[in-house]
Amino acid sequence: MKRVAILISGGGSNMVALAQSMIGDHPARPVVVVSNDPDAGGLAKAEQLGIPREVVDHREFHKDRNAFEGVLHQTLEHHAPDIICLAGFMRILTGAFTSRYEGRMLNIHPSLLPKYKGLHTHARALENGDADHGCTVHEVTAALDDGPILGQARMAVKAGDTPDTLAARLLPLEHALYPAVLRRYARGDRTPVKLP
Ligand code: GRF
Repeated sequence: MKRVAILISGGGSNMVALAQSMIGDHPARPVVVVSNDPDAGGLAKAEQLGIPREVVDHREFHKDRNAFEGVLHQTLEHHAPDIICLAGFMRILTGAFTSRYEGRMLNIHPSLLPKYKGLHTHARALENGDADHGCTVHEVTAALDDGPILGQARMAVKAGDTPDTLAARLLPLEHALYPAVLRRYARGDRTPVKLP
């Protein structure tokens, strides 16, 4: 049974979707939810789901990214994870950290990568007049939002869409995509998931 750590920074809706998918014959189980923000709403949701929680508050390390990542690594290792899922985790991780989890760390990004790496993806898709938008699950490498693509969910952009309406319509697709990718990935299957 693969042990999955889920990293969050906010509401944790993707964490909930992942945790609720890991039941029955699923080859993985959530073992810890780690947040860099002690006030993240996802921590209460993880508690309700009965998942152990940890907080590594990046603000306690001021600008010392290495110190933060050192404690984050120690905290994670305490739970002996096989797979790390970044789910709404809003800290950029250095190559030193990502290399420790090469080939076993996933992230969900709210764009059809390789388009719109980084922030404000919905606004950028609208500014570009894209007909389609979506989300991507990828393996995490040292380069931001750049690792091998493991799944994508696509949807049409509608007239009158705003960044908020796009984000709201995309979130349920994220909640379908990420669990579908993790189920395959936990079995060692990297065949990309395409939704719809
Ligand atoms: C979502 O838009 C997701 O794509 C991005 O963070 C946002 C919030 O996710 N990674 P969650 O509700 O905290 O899972």
